[in-house]
Amino acid sequence: MAQAPLADAIVLFGATGDLARRMLLPTLYHLDADGFLAEGFRVLGTARHEVDREAFVSQARQTLVDRGDAVDETVWARFAARLDYVAADAATAEGAARLKPLLAGARAPIFFLALSPSLYGRVCGALAAAGLTGDGARIVLEKPVGRDLETSREINAAVGAAFEEERIFRIDHYLGKETVQNLIALRFANTLFEPLWNNLTIDHVQITVAETEGVGDRWPYYDEYGALRDMLQNHMLQLLCLVAMEPPSDMEPDSVRNEKVKVLRSLRRFSRVAAQSHSVRGQYTPGVVGGKEVKGYEQERGQPSGTETFVALRADIDNWRWAGVPFFLRTGKRLPERRTQIAIQFKPVPHSIFDGAARHDLKANRLVIDLQPDEDIELLLMNKAPGLTQGGMRLQSLPLSLSLLRAYEGPGARRRIAYERLILDVIQGASTLFVRRDEVEEAWRWIDGVAEAWREAELTPKPYAAGSWGPSGAFALIERAGRDWHD
Ligand code: BG6
Repeated sequence: MAQAPLADAIVLFGATGDLARRMLLPTLYHLDADGFLAEGFRVLGTARHEVDREAFVSQARQTLVDRGDAVDETVWARFAARLDYVAADAATAEGAARLKPLLAGARAPIFFLALSPSLYGRVCGALAAAGLTGDGARIVLEKPVGRDLETSREINAAVGAAFEEERIFRIDHYLGKETVQNLIALRFANTLFEPLWNNLTIDHVQITVAETEGVGDRWPYYDEYGALRDMLQNHMLQLLCLVAMEPPSDMEPDSVRNEKVKVLRSLRRFSRVAAQSHSVRGQYTPGVVGGKEVKGYEQERGQPSGTETFVALRADIDNWRWAGVPFFLRTGKRLPERRTQIAIQFKPVPHSIFDGAARHDLKANRLVIDLQPDEDIELLLMNKAPGLTQGGMRLQSLPLSLSLLRAYEGPGARRRIAYERLILDVIQGASTLFVRRDEVEEAWRWIDGVAEAWREAELTPKPYAAGSWGPSGAFALIERAGRDWHD
């Protein structure tokens, strides 16, 4: 879509829902504040709720206030004038027809579906029937696109009947995070790391996405998906792809996405035996998080459930670069801290020339990429401790910290919402940071294999107390491979 016109309107489907209120409207406000919304760009909300325009506008403002964002009155007045709302059932022809007059004159509207994926196909059909899918129009799909490969294919086919692939933007908001893009810069804009980025020098990789929040009232969605489909299929596999992919020849959408698809295809399929030795499912029981007593998942859910709220697994990438380098992935709700981190663990030096304590102090280098709560990249190097210590030498680990916000935007810089980058890209028609159809389907193919292996192995979630790091099996999993999780 190199020649795509700039979008001139955005329609938020599910505009009264959580995502639109908490993320999308604030994102659009900030894009407006930064001068990225052209004059005449319109922001149209739609949902089935009967809400009038004034209530919609004041809700948008309230969200900014609740987020603690500074509201500039001039920007707000300009932004508020762009907003409109129409109550409609977008999955029906009448609903789409109600949108049409409000989009009169828009040549390149964005349709952002913050809805249940089961509605994606019908909404696209209704938009096509209303004549709203002309050349400049583009559609944004939130994850999850499906619940498995089969449903994903059905959705992709139905959406594809109304929009060509170049006009479909499958969002994974992790790709909008500053540090995730920085991982691409770190690997491909420096000569330092790439020669070491392989099984000769790297021992293993750890990817942790730990959340302190529970599922709460999202259980009707979550119970059907669990951590495997909610987090691993998308966010965590995307992180794994960016760490593991070969250098693309350029940043064009297909160049990058071809490389990611190759990684997904190289993931070793899970067997029943691997399910038992290489994966752990968990579900939180009541416990204490951040000093507060919290309920277990089943108390929130109101009945027993076989859904996992924690997964740890070992993934192996069967290709030349990564043979023998395990990727350990873990994610869970109600863990002791919020932490999203990629750790690249290098191998130890082949032989230590140091004596005494220094010999034991020697630690292998590690590159730690923190995405949350702080954005940072840290390189752990060994270094001689200053002073006249035993034997004149004591090695210590020296963190080399690139604190992104502090380094580049000054103290007090606002942390951007990941959607800002992504929505701006949709406005400009740039799809490198979006997930292509074959990519999402390959990810599902592998995840289906894990789910099937779990079924065959009858692997049910093991309880873990809220506030702990998951079931003990998660530690055994990595210890069996002679490694341990980094704290
Ligand atoms: C969403 C998942 O995609 O990502 C949630 O559905 C999860 O369950 C969230 O909490 C995590 O996103 P972030 O940006 O807070 O790490």
